[in-house]
Amino acid sequence: MAEHIDRLRLTHDLRYRFDYISKCIDFTPHDITMLNQLAPVITPLLPSIVERVYKKLYACDITQNYFLQRNDGFQQFSPNKDTGNTLISVQVDYRKDMLSVYLQHALSERHWNDTFLQYLSRVGEIHTSKGGSASINVDYLHINTLLSFLETTFIGIVWNTDKIEEKKKLDALHAINKFFWIQNDFFTMQYGLSFKEKNITTVPIINFSKCWFH
Ligand code: HEM
Repeated sequence: MAEHIDRLRLTHDLRYRFDYISKCIDFTPHDITMLNQLAPVITPLLPSIVERVYKKLYACDITQNYFLQRNDGFQQFSPNKDTGNTLISVQVDYRKDMLSVYLQHALSERHWNDTFLQYLSRVGEIHTSKGGSASINVDYLHINTLLSFLETTFIGIVWNTDKIEEKKKLDALHAINKFFWIQNDFFTMQYGLSFKEKNITTVPIINFSKCWFH
């Protein structure tokens, strides 16, 4: 008999949602172990990865503009002419650091307890209008592209490293892939993209003869 999944509970019970996704994509403690084993391989490379992320985000005005807004907590900052620090450069350094902390945390976390799930969810929330400083509301499109960029970068590292045994590499790649899809789901949840209102559609109805997946 099919297991009942409570649609409403998926929207407000993070643990329930995570357990459901884990079951669907087969995310197990072994994946967490693989992420933990990757931590010492990837962590030393984080400064250069984060540098590349910011280069990308600063390459187009549409993404750069998000960083030109003032960050909560920096309102009192006075630019220091002697050190060359500007409000923007300090904010960007802070954000680089936060991204690095996040990636390190994600790889090294051993206990995916409720606090950690809330952390992953909060990372999504701060990019929406409801969670960050009032003015920051990053369009989901950019989140999607950055997740892809990060995952591709991690895949490249695993592929090229000799610090992970060859026979473990596939498991490591699977773990990375699952991690990014879980994080992506938490973003979509915070952006309100995961669930459709029932019976409301603007797409013309096409009567397919059968579902492709059955
Ligand atoms: C892979 C997707 C992303 C991840 C994992 C991520 C992660 C983070 C983290 C960990 C923070 C720090 C939160 C804190 O203050 O504790 C942060 C802040 C921030 N991120 Fe992202 N980020 C992502 C995508 C983006 C994109 C695509 C943009 C803009 C184009 C962006 C703009 C910002 C801004 C402006 C802040 C500062 C928020 C504030 O001042 O409250 N992020 N991000």
